[in-house]
Amino acid sequence: MKAVRIHGYGDPDVLKYEDAPTPTLKPDQVLVRVRGVGINPVDVKTRAGKGLNYSDKPFPLILGWDIAGEIAETTAGAPFAVGDAVYGMVEFPDVGSAYAEYVAANWTELAKAPQRIDLVTAAGVPLVGLTAWQALFEVGKLEAGARILIPAAAGGVGHIAVQLAKWKGATVIGTASARNHDYLREIGVDQVIDYTKQSFEEVVKDVDFVLNTTREDDTLARSFKVLRRGGTLISIAGKPDEEQAKASDIHAESILVKPSGEQMAKIAELIDAGYVKPAVERVFPLAAMNEAHRLQESGHVRGKIVLRVGDE
Ligand SMILES: NC(=O)c1ccc[n+]([C@@H]2O[C@H](COP(=O)([O-])OP(=O)(O)OC[C@H]3O[C@@H](n4cnc5c(N)ncnc54)[C@H](OP(=O)(O)O)[C@@H]3O)[C@@H](O)[C@H]2O)c1
Repeated sequence: MKAVRIHGYGDPDVLKYEDAPTPTLKPDQVLVRVRGVGINPVDVKTRAGKGLNYSDKPFPLILGWDIAGEIAETTAGAPFAVGDAVYGMVEFPDVGSAYAEYVAANWTELAKAPQRIDLVTAAGVPLVGLTAWQALFEVGKLEAGARILIPAAAGGVGHIAVQLAKWKGATVIGTASARNHDYLREIGVDQVIDYTKQSFEEVVKDVDFVLNTTREDDTLARSFKVLRRGGTLISIAGKPDEEQAKASDIHAESILVKPSGEQMAKIAELIDAGYVKPAVERVFPLAAMNEAHRLQESGHVRGKIVLRVGDE
């Protein structure tokens, strides 16, 4: 099969499109014929040798976790049949081996793909969808009627989190640069803040919830200034200060996303019902993974970058 592998860490040109062995299946796995791959900031950091640590794993490595495709082969007891369209985040935070035409995936990490969007678009959803779901609902227990601040609201996690929070019945305050303001209003953000002109604490106070989605501009520390006593601060980008949280009676936690086929199925339902519309900034062919990483590194992607697989 074709895959994108690295033989060492470094700049985007360490990503090599080349032949690789097709994976073999272990029990409780299925083989996915991949149609789309999604990338995330963690892919870029790991490729550069600054992200997840695989020093115990020999090169070459196939990076990536987000896939959508069709089941090509099953093992005994699989809940999917050959030909089913599926999507999911595989093996995270271990080596996902997603940048490939075929991926061996644990079936508990997959769900039937949404039907309303194509598989290339669906590949952008898993990691950011799971992160938003776990931050808002599993850990943060966001309730209808709550006011939530989401910095970087047009980014991968941000744009899904906004739509999930709106579906739940929350009022959403989101930050972005001017190029994304119309987009944020389109997906339901009630109050848009231009972070390049204004600090959110100048215009926001007493929110119930902050989902901290960025390491830029000290947003995590500044989040304490806008939360009400007893509010919730869930961070996916840095660890909140425990003393500060205790002093303000704030439930503050940082989380690391984990795979879940069950949650992917719930997200697929919301996509099919029209509540969540995943946005794609650019589609690249799998062979151009290095260009995709360069664009991801810009830090200003709206929604997701995805790669088309299999029709090179
Ligand atoms: N802990 C976990 O499990 C977990 C899971 C997923 C992601 N993460 C981390 O969370 C962060 C966000 O991930 P992502 O996938 O959403 O990233 P992303 O898609 O690359 O985020 C890009 C967005 O960030 C916005 N942005 C850039 N600088 C900003 C600033 N100073 N203030 C506000 N917004 C700004 C951009 O908006 P403009 O173009 O308008 O500037 C752009 O839309 C990353 O650090 C990632 O590693 C952690």
